[in-house]
Amino acid sequence: MSGSTASEDAAADEQSHGDARRGSDPATSVADRRNEGPATPGTDPERASLPPGPDGVPVLGTLPRFVRDPFAFYDRLFAYGDVVSYDFGIWNNVTLFHPADVERVLVDDADRFRKSHVQRRSGVDFLENGLLLTEGEEWREQRTQLQPLFYREKIEAFAETMVEEARLLVDSWDDGEVIDLQSAYSTLAMRVLGRTLFGVDVHDGEGYEVIRRAAASVQRRADAGSVTAFLPDWVPTPANRRFARDTAAFREYVDRLVRERRGSDFADADDLLTLLVGLGEGDALSDDAVRDQLMTFLFAGHETTSLALSYATHALARRPGIADDLHAEAAAAGDLDAAAVRSLDVTDRVVSETLRRYPPAYVLFREPIVDVIVGGYRIPAGTNVSLPIWRLHRDPRWWDDPETFDPSRWIEDDPDRPEYAYLPFGGGPRHCIGMRFASLELRATLATVFGEAEFEALADGEPSFEAAATLQPSEPLRVRVSKR
Ligand code: HEM
Repeated sequence: MSGSTASEDAAADEQSHGDARRGSDPATSVADRRNEGPATPGTDPERASLPPGPDGVPVLGTLPRFVRDPFAFYDRLFAYGDVVSYDFGIWNNVTLFHPADVERVLVDDADRFRKSHVQRRSGVDFLENGLLLTEGEEWREQRTQLQPLFYREKIEAFAETMVEEARLLVDSWDDGEVIDLQSAYSTLAMRVLGRTLFGVDVHDGEGYEVIRRAAASVQRRADAGSVTAFLPDWVPTPANRRFARDTAAFREYVDRLVRERRGSDFADADDLLTLLVGLGEGDALSDDAVRDQLMTFLFAGHETTSLALSYATHALARRPGIADDLHAEAAAAGDLDAAAVRSLDVTDRVVSETLRRYPPAYVLFREPIVDVIVGGYRIPAGTNVSLPIWRLHRDPRWWDDPETFDPSRWIEDDPDRPEYAYLPFGGGPRHCIGMRFASLELRATLATVFGEAEFEALADGEPSFEAAATLQPSEPLRVRVSKR
């Protein structure tokens, strides 16, 4: 692995989403080929027609069908073509199924789109000034300030902490114990984030509980299968009330962390919390911005990572053959530092396949700020555009046997597969800033855990899912553990 410099990292981050992109040549991107000709975005939107799509019932449009089963709804939309439109009452939606169109939205035409009102709404009041939801110059400044914390050298220095926490987790399990994977890995992900980015032990009983409850409330409130997801915040549904209570407690907890760091001698620390508090002191960041930023990183970095670890372990518990390869690789690797983690090929393929088959961030939302043309169709400004990562990762046009969990598909790159058929970390300027962090944590944790333990599934078959803010399993993912 090359030891790339910080400036190389910055350049790579400017124009790509690094490891998440595969086999691309930007000069001949599929997006360019697909949208070439007179109907280039923004040149003549009026002449292009609106995309096809299903009709809905009066007033609510297709919303009732969506709420009944969001995943089946996306599957049905797929039959209408690559660009499909439908209404949820007053909201106009378009879903894009072609990787070239997704690339156009996220990369080539990124400055014509912003985060959609759907996404903004789920974070209003507690993430709105953070990196995930800010826009324009404000976002650019934040990203520039924070990017250096995520350069490769910085992230690789966290490998030891990640391995240590994974070991502590395995040590906490008894031989033969049945464990709930999400709960176990959520604790782990929180501890790792706390130690590496915030320099605090968020696993003190109170802090952890506060964060866990707030995360669960966000999931429930964003659950697309419930009516709450489509109602204003002030409607006192149980989910909205719980959201208000739990996020207020979370806000108080984070405010206390910031106060404590301000009152301490932190000259030597160089973690995220210190950087933010330092910027806050110089008036570069308001108190609200510091708090929103911390909350953003706690939420964006914790739930996604623990879900990926849970799905990977659950998938392997049902596939002893693949698990054996992982055990063997982990045993041969010996002490795991960043260099050793980088050389874990089987683990790397398991991670890639997990993020393909069970992408924690399963759909992205954008909204064009002007009328645009995508895939030959007009998309009016303000339309909610969804990019169904979940569906793109299982499209039989790009993936053989897409429903099968098969890490060996990653042994060789498929030169015919469009780059944006796989985008677990998003793409373009707003790709996941924590991608390297997550990728290292997933590999370091799985190698450590599978080096020391084996897992047995309690039920056969694929898990079923809920369309919450992230891809949640409908039932707890439980396995029986035995120590090696
Ligand atoms: C498996 C784990 C993860 C997955 C699948 C994931 C996925 C994503 C995706 C798809 C986006 C783009 C969202 C969009 O375009 O609307 C994103 C953005 C983001 N992620 Fe992650 N993420 C993961 C882990 C992390 C971690 C560990 C952190 C922090 C340490 C993090 C922090 C962020 C932030 C702050 C953004 C917003 C970036 C911006 O808009 O500039 N993520 N993530």
